[in-house]
Amino acid sequence: MRNLIDILDLSVEELDELMATASDIIEHPARYSEACRGKKLATLFFEPSTRTRLSFEAAMYELGGNVLSMASANSSSAAKGESVADTAKTVSCYADVIAMRHPKEGAPLVASLNVSIPVINAGDGGHNHPTQTLADLFTIKREKGEIRDLTVGFCGDLKFGRTVHSLISALARYTGIKIVLISPVELTVPSYIMTDVLEKNNIPYEQTTDLLSVMPKLDILYMTRVQKERFFNEEDYLRLKDSYILTPDKLKTAKKDLSILHPLPRVNEIAVAIDDDPRACYFKQVLNAKYMRMALILKLLEVKV
Ligand code: NCD
Repeated sequence: MRNLIDILDLSVEELDELMATASDIIEHPARYSEACRGKKLATLFFEPSTRTRLSFEAAMYELGGNVLSMASANSSSAAKGESVADTAKTVSCYADVIAMRHPKEGAPLVASLNVSIPVINAGDGGHNHPTQTLADLFTIKREKGEIRDLTVGFCGDLKFGRTVHSLISALARYTGIKIVLISPVELTVPSYIMTDVLEKNNIPYEQTTDLLSVMPKLDILYMTRVQKERFFNEEDYLRLKDSYILTPDKLKTAKKDLSILHPLPRVNEIAVAIDDDPRACYFKQVLNAKYMRMALILKLLEVKV
C-alpha cells in the first residue's frame, strides 16, 4: 500500500512520472474523466483550507470519482475526543483513499499505520505538506523547463511554513540547486532542514534577513505567509507579520525571468499590483496543484489510463 506522508516517499523518477501524467491530463482531459468511476476520496481536514481541500475534491470529480467530506472538524467525532487512528479506521470502511490535514505533526502518518487504504498528508502542523510540493515542482518545471541549475529563494516564515520544508527536501535531490533562506532571525528553518537536508546533500545555501540584497541572483522566489496559527503569542506575530512585503519596486533588480511562487493564502506578503507581472506564478500554481493531485490519486489507486 502506497501513501504520501513525506515528499521523500516518492522517488525522483516517480515525481517525473506524476508530472508527465499531469501534463497528459492537461492535454487530454477526456481520457481521464471516467478513470476513477466508483472510487471514493475522503477529505479529513482538521484545519482550515480552501485550495488543498477543494482541489483534491475537484481532482476526484474530474476523474469521475466521488468525494466524502465533513463540513468541518468541529462537526466530526474528533470534537468528542475520538483518536486519529479510530477516525481513520472508520473512514477506511467507506473510502478508497484518504487526504488528511491535521494540526498535529505526524497525524497522517498515524492514520496511515492504522488503515489499509492509501493516506495522503494534506498538511500536518508546521511539519510537511507534500502535495503542495507536487504543485510547486510542476510549476517550476513548466516555467523553467527543467528542475536543475536554479537558485531558489525562500522568503518569510521558514520556521513554521510546512510547504517550505517539503519543497526544500524535494529540491535537495536535483542537480545544481542553490538555496537562499530569507527570514527574520526568529523564523529561520528548523535546524534539521539545515543539517539533515541541505548539508547532508551538499546543497549550497545561504541565510539572510535582507531580501533586496539577494534578489538579483534568484531564479525562483518562494514567498510565504507568517503562520499566525502556530505562534504562541499574538505580540510576536504582530511584530513579524509584515517582515517582507513584495512590491513592484522591490523587483527592479530581479531577473527578467524570475518566477514568483506562493503556496497561498497570501495575507500581505505580495502586493496585488504584482499579480499582473508575468513573473507572478502563484495562481498558475493553484491550477497546477489540481492536475498533480489528479495524477497522485491515479497513482495511489493504481488506476491505469
Ligand atoms: C499552505 C498550508 O496550508 O500550509 N496553504 C496551502 O495548502 N496552499 C500555506 C499556508 O497556509 O500559508
